[in-house]
Amino acid sequence: MSKAPVIAIDGPSGSGKGTICKLLAQAMGYHLLDSGALYRLVALAAEHHGVSMENERALSDIAAHLDVQFLTSVDGDKVVLEGEDVSLAIRTEAVGMNASRVASLTLVRKSLEERQRAFAELPGLVADGRDMGTVIFPQASIKVFLTASAEERADRRYKQLKSKGLDASLADILVDIQQRDERDQNRSVAPLKPAADAVLIDCTHMSIAEVEQEVMTLIRNRGL
Ligand code: C5P
Repeated sequence: MSKAPVIAIDGPSGSGKGTICKLLAQAMGYHLLDSGALYRLVALAAEHHGVSMENERALSDIAAHLDVQFLTSVDGDKVVLEGEDVSLAIRTEAVGMNASRVASLTLVRKSLEERQRAFAELPGLVADGRDMGTVIFPQASIKVFLTASAEERADRRYKQLKSKGLDASLADILVDIQQRDERDQNRSVAPLKPAADAVLIDCTHMSIAEVEQEVMTLIRNRGL
């Protein structure tokens, strides 16, 4: 197993994990694993290949053989699937919903385990997901469970979409978030829950800078 330290950040959709993980990875000079992107990629690849979101065997095959590259450049990060830039395509609400469906399938999760663990290279890794601290990196040096009320998360998502000039309904977003929470928390395999040794941070009334500060304090206290 890799000796690289792992900072595992888990939590529900829209809690701000993505933003915090990027900031932490930059501040620490660590690698970043966006595990949600992998489930989104499986859902998108399945769509491209006409595979049903219920066909567990075919989906796990897609997950095991995902042809994906995570590229970083000065122009921004890119996710390339089978040679095609899908950075935006994987971020739609529809793909997110299908990602949460394929993520409830045991064989799909198994197919992605080793790929995720391979991200743990020196000097270290910031891992963003739902089961980073419980299943994928139980030995993580730091485990944080970042959450916020469903209403606050829906409101943040609504403002984000509006600021991009996109049409959005706050009520619809809230229902989507509640459905996704329900599915993520109640699935039988790797349900969304804090690891026993995770530090819980409820960021409903916190700024991004305050959350980053709190996690950086945990990291420094661990001597990383
Ligand atoms: O984090 P993101 O919204 O991109 O994740 C998409 C979906 O993938 C989530 O709704 C969740 O169901 C699933 N997921 C998961 N385990 C992870 C990361 C994401 O089940 N480690």
